[in-house]
Amino acid sequence: MNAKVRKAVFPAAGLGTRFLPATKAQPKEMLPLVDKPLIQYGVEEAIHSGIQNIIIVTGRGKTAIEDHFDVSFELEHLLETRNKKDLLATVRAVSDINVSYVRQKEALGLGHAVLRARELVGDEPFAVILSDDVIDAEVPALRQLLDVYEFYGAPVLALMEVPRENISAYGVVDAEPVGHNGGRDRLYRIRNLVEKPKPQDAPSNLAIIGRYVLTPEVFHSLETIEPGSGGEIQLTDGLKHALRSRPIYGYRFEGTRYDAGDKLGFLKATVEFALKRHDLGEQFRAYLKSLQL
Ligand code: G1P
Repeated sequence: MNAKVRKAVFPAAGLGTRFLPATKAQPKEMLPLVDKPLIQYGVEEAIHSGIQNIIIVTGRGKTAIEDHFDVSFELEHLLETRNKKDLLATVRAVSDINVSYVRQKEALGLGHAVLRARELVGDEPFAVILSDDVIDAEVPALRQLLDVYEFYGAPVLALMEVPRENISAYGVVDAEPVGHNGGRDRLYRIRNLVEKPKPQDAPSNLAIIGRYVLTPEVFHSLETIEPGSGGEIQLTDGLKHALRSRPIYGYRFEGTRYDAGDKLGFLKATVEFALKRHDLGEQFRAYLKSLQL
């Protein structure tokens, strides 16, 4: 039996420069899609995938994230006295989640952020979720990866085909399809990984999307490697190092992924999530139609 994945790490120390000035005094992870902060979508995905312990890697200026997952006595008291039961339940559900925090004191890259969670993760497999990547899926994307992990007991990365002209924004894999585990055409064994290659150097059009199931040896790899793309310690480079001593799998998940760290991607996610809402969808659709674009 492979050890159960109990913990999910959320790197959240980035400066959010793509969203300035909104992110000058507010963490980008707290930007809302309709009425829920980005990071909460990721946290709910982890919980719906069966993970109970959330580890958030924060940095300076990120206290709003901690406050969000904390109890708010004043707010709860107010909602209680006004008999707003639904809102009270919504607010309480957020603070019921078990969250731990660790600070990344310098922005030295995604791999460095993951390494900061080492003490809290300990010697067990864990998930990593990048909350910029919002994935709308029938079976939560992380659950899809965990199913592969539970079969193979090896690290698994979320993969997606992206157009060649956009490939340089991603970690890219060279991978061969594996026909097992019901995954059939979706499962790959990774042969190599490159962080943000030039289009002509990209080994394929299969990009890594922000969902990973990792095993604790990756911490050793992250400690060993030198800074890579952008002068940062890259998670992709750590995985490439780990690949020397163990197999790593990739899974082309089912679902729609939004790059909510990008303005256009954020707008698309906002519109589509609003259209799906029972309380807003109909009115919003009518409004969009009235724009006669
Ligand atoms: C990070 C990773 C990259 C991955 C991407 C997915 O890049 O370094 O390998 O493809 O997330 O969103 P970032 O978007 O933080 O530059």
